[in-house]
Amino acid sequence: MYTKEVMDHFTNPRNVGEMPDADGIGEEGNPVCGDAMKIFLKIRDDKIVDAKFQTFGCGAAIAVSSMVTEMVKGKSLDEALSISKEAVSSALGGLPAQKQHCSNLGAAALHKAIEDYRKKQT
Ligand code: FES
Repeated sequence: MYTKEVMDHFTNPRNVGEMPDADGIGEEGNPVCGDAMKIFLKIRDDKIVDAKFQTFGCGAAIAVSSMVTEMVKGKSLDEALSISKEAVSSALGGLPAQKQHCSNLGAAALHKAIEDYRKKQT
């Protein structure tokens, strides 16, 4: 039911943990399943140089968080903002229909982290 990419990122998640000196933090949760995701970004010259996450959720949510934090490293803020939930899901080789909302959490938390950073700059 899960692809090998999902299983890989679930069993060996990248970038787990807190980032005390993050430049932008985004949190997103799903009230139905109760899962919650927090993404931390380190930003230099409009580029994401590091990303970490903390996720309390299902295996797909963990795989999504791991994949999103890998996808954004080295990207400009505008490039990272254009990462959609579909892009996250397809990078994982697809998610089962009832797990699509897990990829929404990843894209939404990422976008909120970028907004948080931009708000702090103004
Ligand atoms: Fe809700 Fe995966 S079941 S985030």
